[in-house]
Amino acid sequence: MNNQVYIFDTTLRDGEQSPGASLNIKEKIEIAKTLEQLQVDVIEAGFPISSRGDFKSVKTISTHIKNTTIAALARASEQDINAAYEALKDCKNKRIHTFLATSDIHLKYKLKMDRNSVLEKAVHAVKYAKNLGVEVEFSAEDAARTDLDYLCKITESVIAAGADIVNIPDTVGYALPNEFAERIKTLFNKVSNIDQAIISVHCHNDLGLAVANTLEAITNGARQIECTINGLGERAGNAALEEIIMTLKTRQNALNLTTNINTKNIYKTSRLVSNLTGIAVQRNKAIVGANAFAHEAGIHQHGVLSHTETYEIMTPESIGLKTSNIVLGKHSGRHAFINKLEKLGYSFEKVKIDELFFKFKELADKKKDIFDEDIQALATDEFNNKKNDFLKLKLFSVLSGNQEIPHAKVKIIKDGKEVQASANGDGPVDAAYNAIEKVAGIELKLEDYNIRAISRGKDAMGEVIVQVSASNLSFYGKGTSTDIVEASIKAYVDAVNKILRNTKLKS
Ligand code: KIV
Ligand code: ZN
Repeated sequence: MNNQVYIFDTTLRDGEQSPGASLNIKEKIEIAKTLEQLQVDVIEAGFPISSRGDFKSVKTISTHIKNTTIAALARASEQDINAAYEALKDCKNKRIHTFLATSDIHLKYKLKMDRNSVLEKAVHAVKYAKNLGVEVEFSAEDAARTDLDYLCKITESVIAAGADIVNIPDTVGYALPNEFAERIKTLFNKVSNIDQAIISVHCHNDLGLAVANTLEAITNGARQIECTINGLGERAGNAALEEIIMTLKTRQNALNLTTNINTKNIYKTSRLVSNLTGIAVQRNKAIVGANAFAHEAGIHQHGVLSHTETYEIMTPESIGLKTSNIVLGKHSGRHAFINKLEKLGYSFEKVKIDELFFKFKELADKKKDIFDEDIQALATDEFNNKKNDFLKLKLFSVLSGNQEIPHAKVKIIKDGKEVQASANGDGPVDAAYNAIEKVAGIELKLEDYNIRAISRGKDAMGEVIVQVSASNLSFYGKGTSTDIVEASIKAYVDAVNKILRNTKLKS
């Protein structure tokens, strides 16, 4: 059997379904371009029928990405498939990914259909998509809980109908690794035409087993993996791309499987996705967490210094992580700045570079040493600086002290007009948030607040990530600054803008 495993990245579809994650088109294009540099084989760009925004994203990504296959999701209906086809029209390498639930529990309570009708519907959808002349993937939703004989029958039927790829999702993250392995093995033993399609897996992480289940599946014959950057996705997320890839690379001796991924781009992609979604990567997360290559215990440090392999099974360089070095400072020129931006994987138009260079100089006046992380923060801020934001912070001032009632004043551009508000709070950040709430004119609730230094030193930039909700919407927002109150305000305004944007989209 061929030892090449194809990587299907669904960060922009399943990943974007993470609670609180929301990306605009510009951000999605940037992620898609970075995924292309990472050399994934397929980018699932969205679910075109689900919203106008998703349709537009798939369409726009289709025109920007030239070498990677773009997949669009569709339920097993002609209307969904037509929308996916329409969105993919300008795409060079397109795939329609159609899905239908196959487990009895979904048939009974969700679809209210019997097994024969589901089988017919699946076959019809695959034939219909195939007739459009595109590559077709069929997913048997909740396959891990589907009666195994029935799953074999569906798999055989959709392959006979023309499916190029058949995906076996563990939609609810229920399977145990040995059970999932057995399931894939049985498909290979019982489905007579299995060699005519690629078998794919898509594992959710509800029990923390998504990566283990994925590895079991490829050991038993599956050759496509569906995964996301940083393990983003519905509920507890999907299998994390970086964990699977680095397992395949580090344990090549045991697994003997290869992929097209350029592992040196893993870290950069992880940071970009975290920065743009506003979803922080936990410090102890495998591969891309801040502590993944940090050796705290003296005995470990000593071992690593004498011979890295004593405690390091892979190098930080293999995922493109360089130890943070001082890169630029007050006297650095434009050329060095542009060079650094390019090295970090950012590309901007000339006008944007001018603006960024100005901001870089401002930052260099405030802090002596500028690290890679500082430049990344500036570049991400530029992405977050959306022209059509509802609220834009113009200025703020706060009064705080152990003998004062904390007070904040904000001036914000709202719908093109300058609006000023002031409020008290139980601290300067709370006061500023109360003032912003007055400007926004909606009731807001701060669900979560996190702050960290993004580089080293007393003058380091602070990064604040907040989760803010209003009625039944909840979004993350991120802000960076050398001033933590400013970073807090920027993060709050970012989240509130997402809430307002989504409220407007819905109305
Ligand atoms: O989890 C799932 O089953 C899915 C399908 C649409 C593939 O996301
Ligand atoms: Zn899923």
